[in-house]
Amino acid sequence: MLLAGCLITGACSDEPIGTSQSPLPCDVERVLADNCRECHSARPRFGAPMPLVGWEDLQRPAVSDPNRRVWELVAERVHDPERPMPPTGVMAPTDVTALDAWAAAGALAGESVCDGATGKPDDAAQSGPASLSCRPDVSVLAFGDGPDERYRIPADQVNHNACFAIRAPWQGDRQVIGMAPVLDDERFVHHIILFATQSPQPEGPFPCDGNLPADAVGIGGWAPGATNLELPPDVGLDVGGDEVWLVLQIHYWNGVGATDALDRSGMALCTTAEPRAQRASVTALGTLNIFVPPRAAATASGRCTPRMQQPVHVLGLTPHMHRSGRTIETIVHRAGGAGRETLLRVDPWDFDRQIQHPSDAVLMPGDVLETTCTWENASSRRIYFGEGTEDEMCFQFVLAYPAGELHNGGLAGDRACID
Ligand code: HEC
Repeated sequence: MLLAGCLITGACSDEPIGTSQSPLPCDVERVLADNCRECHSARPRFGAPMPLVGWEDLQRPAVSDPNRRVWELVAERVHDPERPMPPTGVMAPTDVTALDAWAAAGALAGESVCDGATGKPDDAAQSGPASLSCRPDVSVLAFGDGPDERYRIPADQVNHNACFAIRAPWQGDRQVIGMAPVLDDERFVHHIILFATQSPQPEGPFPCDGNLPADAVGIGGWAPGATNLELPPDVGLDVGGDEVWLVLQIHYWNGVGATDALDRSGMALCTTAEPRAQRASVTALGTLNIFVPPRAAATASGRCTPRMQQPVHVLGLTPHMHRSGRTIETIVHRAGGAGRETLLRVDPWDFDRQIQHPSDAVLMPGDVLETTCTWENASSRRIYFGEGTEDEMCFQFVLAYPAGELHNGGLAGDRACID
């Protein structure tokens, strides 16, 4: 599987993979293959600072703390509620137990090479422009000094957010019908978000930790494990207008301080000037009513009744908070007291992993939507709603069709359902 992944991504190193190291015990081998090597492969990807392939990899000094061994941090991070590994926080309890038992017994090598350690299929095969059924005609890619140059990822910042904006090459009607990630320097691309806005944007690469224009809507993105987005055949996402800017936000993680990191990753879009019958749009749910006292936790909820006149089909949900966020959840209270359902719950919230979560929920007239966020404020400042990194947000961006049905006529016209 590792070799196949390396061929697909073109990221092969000269060293033969996995042959020069001592084997791991078979249960540990399988746990790492299933949960970790999507990123911690022989040539690490998506910001992971080190490989977790053979026994020697786990005995080396850790990148972030050379006084400790990698396996000691492994044992710690699989229990860390704030910064879990794997980053989704989702791992079978029996897999965690297997790693715990191995670490407690001294992290010894295995006796022989294991059979049948397969691991998960590489997601590179299922995402990317080549596996779209539509033909991408617009791409928004990272750039450097010139629009065709690659972007130099700083060597002195482990955690770096960069934004790149292009003026959309259209005027008037336009729909996005599919999109796929384009991954260039896979070692350091941690996640990607794509926004559309009518507010003019800077020309060169610019820092973008939080400060997006208020009218920006998230239209897509990528994080490890995410697949392409293709809208149903009769549906298109409206992004038309005479002056539309597409803003690409890429989060890089250069934990090893590489100085040779040049990148041209981004998103490829299939668009059409002939609108499909069903128009989709993005509506913001949530609340602006946020106050988190110093060194305290807080919860806020926004409840709204969309003005919809017909059933609404949800395609995806993209939650957005800043770094103090802990959980975000959107539930639907069915019309006429017919019960409640969870549309999406993200727990723990991870600012560094903002993606669109696919959905096939159908909302009916009279349904009430409630979005609840929780925060923990570790600082001595008071935190309020705002666009800056120091401020907080509580938005759930809902991609759904028909367009414009989910708003409640309040704030931001037909783009929000916020009381
Ligand atoms: C989706 C990609 C991804 C997966 C899957 C993943 N990691 Fe990571 N890992 C990262 C990234 C990115 C970092 C650097 C950022 C951080 O420390 O949070 C990291 C850092 C680490 C570190 C800290 C290294 C240091 O020197 O500080 C450890 C330990 C770790 N991962 C263990 C694991 C284990 C064990 C698994 C599987 C159970 C796993 N990771 C799965 C991406 C991933």
